[in-house]
Amino acid sequence: MQSPAPVTSPVTVTVTGAAGQIAYALLFRIAAGEVFGRDTVVNLNLLEIPAATTAAEGVAMELQDAAFPLLGTVTVTDDAAVAFTGADAAFLVGAKPRGKGAERSELLADNGGVFGPQGKAIAANAHSGVRVLVVGNPANTNAAIAAAAGGLPAGSVTAMTRLDHNRALSQVAQRLGTPVAGLHRMTVWGNHSTTQFPDITELVDDTGRPLAEDLGGPEGTWNTDEFIPRVAKRGAEIISVRGSSSAASAASAAVDHMHDWVHGTPEGDWVSVVLPSDGSYGVPEGLMCSFPCRSVDGAWQIVQGLELSEVQRTRLDASVEELADEWSTVQELGLV
Ligand code: NAD
Ligand code: LMR
Repeated sequence: MQSPAPVTSPVTVTVTGAAGQIAYALLFRIAAGEVFGRDTVVNLNLLEIPAATTAAEGVAMELQDAAFPLLGTVTVTDDAAVAFTGADAAFLVGAKPRGKGAERSELLADNGGVFGPQGKAIAANAHSGVRVLVVGNPANTNAAIAAAAGGLPAGSVTAMTRLDHNRALSQVAQRLGTPVAGLHRMTVWGNHSTTQFPDITELVDDTGRPLAEDLGGPEGTWNTDEFIPRVAKRGAEIISVRGSSSAASAASAAVDHMHDWVHGTPEGDWVSVVLPSDGSYGVPEGLMCSFPCRSVDGAWQIVQGLELSEVQRTRLDASVEELADEWSTVQELGLV
């Protein structure tokens, strides 16, 4: 995969959906230096639809009022060409969230149309080493649309399963009564949907001791009946309890994803990232799928050499099949 460019100061960062819930948590953490580094000045470009640019101006005013030492310029616009000009990184958040009882894939008809034009605008205006993170749902397929429409290089467009990854770590930490920081090698495979496969098989503690058996094993009832469905349906659980979809935890996962992409993953560990398959683990080439990944020299690499059991294979295949179906819908709707 192509290595995106190293980060130099200042960086230009585009956030779409800037007046929305996730952006309201995300922008302040970027401006505080939590993503690109405590010595890196950040110029923020905020993209919104025309009806929401005034609200985005309000967010820009609050960013200024916070007097972040690392915050450079803040530009609010409804023009994608302006928003992506010179972008070193782009968070594609702007999209409709689902309501109670809906599946994320049902958003494709409404949201899919946003990502083709944005992919083209990124290709035409962004820095050639731009790092793109798609958050708007259905995230895997929206990322595939942006990448295809813009003809963007395979190493530059990703989508977010880091929230699922973090949810999985948190569920295990609560179960074992250990801190999240002592858990390593969690994997979320597949689609950011209910078919996703949060996988404890390779999970280890700080000493490298495998933890799956402490959790009853990969085929144990806690894993199959509680953990996997809990993590896979956590987004819907949040919508049901909170009344709207996850926002601060989604922003936090986006911070984690971009931070690790730029600065690297800890030695011996990995995180979950949606990127175009290179054929690893039998996932068809080009399909935007979540894999265990390491960030090395500023580029994501899929962790190689994991042995998948028949049960793991079946779970991954089910999610891959759903991704292929979503891509067929994209073509039927003429979104690329
Ligand atoms: P929100 O409704 O609060 O904000 C979305 C914003 O996007 C709105 O201000 C809207 O005006 C703007 N927008 C819509 N179309 C746009 C366009 N073409 N260009 C620029 N801006 C545009 O929603 P939210 O809670 O911030 O969620 C945003 C998206 O993120 C949703 O699709 C949600 O499902 C998704 N999400 C994904 C994850 C994940 O883990 N991948 C987690 C949480 C939420
Ligand atoms: C999540 O996982 O919280 C988001 O994808 C929002 C949703 O619709 O579940």
